[in-house]
Amino acid sequence: MIHHFKTVDSTNTVAMRMAAQGACHGTVIHADRQTGGRGRAERQFVSPKGGLYFSLILRPELELQYLPLVTLAAGVGLCNGIKNAVDVKVQLKWPNDLYLDGRKLGGILTESGPFHSGSGPEFVIVGAGINVSTDLQQFPSSLRTRVISLYHGRECVFGVDPLLKSVVDAMLLSVQRLVVDREKLLADWRALDYLQGKDLEYDSGEGITTAIGIGLAPDGRYVIRDRAGVEHSILAGDINPISLMS
Ligand code: BTN
Repeated sequence: MIHHFKTVDSTNTVAMRMAAQGACHGTVIHADRQTGGRGRAERQFVSPKGGLYFSLILRPELELQYLPLVTLAAGVGLCNGIKNAVDVKVQLKWPNDLYLDGRKLGGILTESGPFHSGSGPEFVIVGAGINVSTDLQQFPSSLRTRVISLYHGRECVFGVDPLLKSVVDAMLLSVQRLVVDREKLLADWRALDYLQGKDLEYDSGEGITTAIGIGLAPDGRYVIRDRAGVEHSILAGDINPISLMS
């Protein structure tokens, strides 16, 4: 079931509330705009009109150890859903960004709860924001050169509605594959990897490491190799191509 709103603070916040009240697996919260869109690491996610903003409520039968892979599965689903709907090839920048032509097209925010000892969460919320027909002038000037819309450089202006069903269907399938077909799903993620082979800077929050992108590890971490040849398996933090750092 899809619940549509003109404006909400954050579809993830609404979805968390509805899930806590018992909303079932596959419920979607969709909004035209968000006034308090949230991103990873408590960042703001600017959500002007023209974008697709939604949150999908999941109740997956997932062991706790695989929970970090939900964002990766959702990313594969989003890329597949976009390709099916509008024939645009989008890439994934670990852990949660969608990239097109070297710029950020969108992002994923996964939240979950409540936890009971020894088992996975009762529900998982996967929120996604995609710039679809968004006028880039609506973004703060500091972001404008780093973001892109799906319609950018193309002759057609895409509507959000045809996209929503396609991406939700593909995300549900991907999350299911996380349970039954995990290795192949991770292989699909690797085929969409934006960072692999690129010169990168990794910001751990405690310092910057210059490295090259190696690829996704089986546990969902991202492997980089620093200038001394040492490999690091990254669990959290920001990894950016050097050309993006300014
Ligand atoms: C990121 O860029 O760090 C992730 C952005 C996730 C944004 C989506 S938009 C729909 C859902 N509601 C939110 O508040 N955030 C997610």
